[in-house]
Amino acid sequence: MDKIVISGGTPLHGEIKISGAKNATLPILAATLLSPEPYTLSNVPNVADIATMQKLLRAMGAQIQGQDGIYSIGIPQITSCEAPYEWVKTMRASILVLGPLLARHKEAHVSLPGGCAIGTRPINLHLAALSQMGAEITVEHGMIHATTKQLKGATIFFEPSTVTGTENLMMAATLAEGTTILKNAAQEPEITDLAQFLNQCGANIVGAGTDQITIHGVPALSGASYTIMPDRIETGTFMVAAAITQGELTLSDCRPENLTCVINTLKKMGSDITTGKKWIRIKGGPIRPFDITTLPYPEFPTDMQAQAMALMTLSSGLSKITETIFESRFNHAAELRRMGAQIYIEHNYAIVQGVKSLSGAKVLASDLRASSSLVLAGLVANGETEISRVYHLDRGYEKIEEKLSRVGANIKRVKAV
Ligand code: EPU
Repeated sequence: MDKIVISGGTPLHGEIKISGAKNATLPILAATLLSPEPYTLSNVPNVADIATMQKLLRAMGAQIQGQDGIYSIGIPQITSCEAPYEWVKTMRASILVLGPLLARHKEAHVSLPGGCAIGTRPINLHLAALSQMGAEITVEHGMIHATTKQLKGATIFFEPSTVTGTENLMMAATLAEGTTILKNAAQEPEITDLAQFLNQCGANIVGAGTDQITIHGVPALSGASYTIMPDRIETGTFMVAAAITQGELTLSDCRPENLTCVINTLKKMGSDITTGKKWIRIKGGPIRPFDITTLPYPEFPTDMQAQAMALMTLSSGLSKITETIFESRFNHAAELRRMGAQIYIEHNYAIVQGVKSLSGAKVLASDLRASSSLVLAGLVANGETEISRVYHLDRGYEKIEEKLSRVGANIKRVKAV
């Protein structure tokens, strides 16, 4: 298995171009199951999760061609409607094929995702909502079997709000008979991106980006050409890279308006930040302690919690994190402690006492965002940090070591022999 090796201590300077958003691309790729017509997608990030989704779609009959972030996709016929355990255990977001398959093909067999490193992550709300729309669903031997004669519009209330749940139902409802209303819908920007894509394909979706989304079903969708939104979590991660190394970075091709809470938090933690229409410039200053609570958008994202924790380890005082989305998303804390951080975990709280410096160590990545927090800590730690299990990092960050070394980081990938 590959490793990332970092010699810390260099402030980063320069410009990093932000890639397309993984969590917008995944549902949009799943949504291509909705029509037999061709699609062109641009700004598709070259990360492992996207490759996994493409493989899954190919196994269902998709013809996919392209490179450098631009792909043409066509699924003239759905040749298989099964997402077996092998795919779903590799990537939970495989569950996103359930809604579109039911809507177009009227049948889907998708492995039930289990728990993962950050929590139990049930999908009961996806299944209950699809049943409300007229799907017949059974779960046997770890497989979800869903069929329908025709999905019908319904009023669905999500509690808690769920990102992929909202996406699954929004896709399913595009081809349903009648109108579907999603209440307490997730409001993440990736939901809006999916709705824009679907509307370009001829769907009739109103209210995406608010907590109530109305979908008027249409008989059929067409293909479309669409450019995926920039990745707000990659943007936020590189903002922390500037802040933690006391460097200065300009992040281009991003959307500052999707990061208001993260920008305000980093300002309060001592960074100087200016923004333009599609760029953010951030200059790290002395790091101040701060308290954050992760909550659904537009509040502080759980996907930035681990990176914020890395920054807090070097603040001048005591910070607190309250994680309200996933019950066990603190795996990075134990690894950061091995680098000299002082972190105490109690239930869903983390108390972080800032220290003067971190020291490089051998650490293990446990999930995607945990891995990025270890990279961030490694960028500033004294000596060498060696991060194993970097396949977690590769799931969601495009060429992270290339992007960071171009702005001065001493970081390299050591290939497994
Ligand atoms: N939940 C339920 N029942 C459900 C669905 C969700 O109880 O049927 C609960 C979850 O257990 C959790 C909360 O609702 O406590 C929110 O989970 P959500 O369903 O919103 O998460 P998700 O859709 O599985 C997406 C992202 C995650 C991100 C979360 C939260 C994708 C592919 N994944 O997951 O991204 O952390 O929303 O914003 O969009 C990542 O990129 O590293 C990542 C984990």
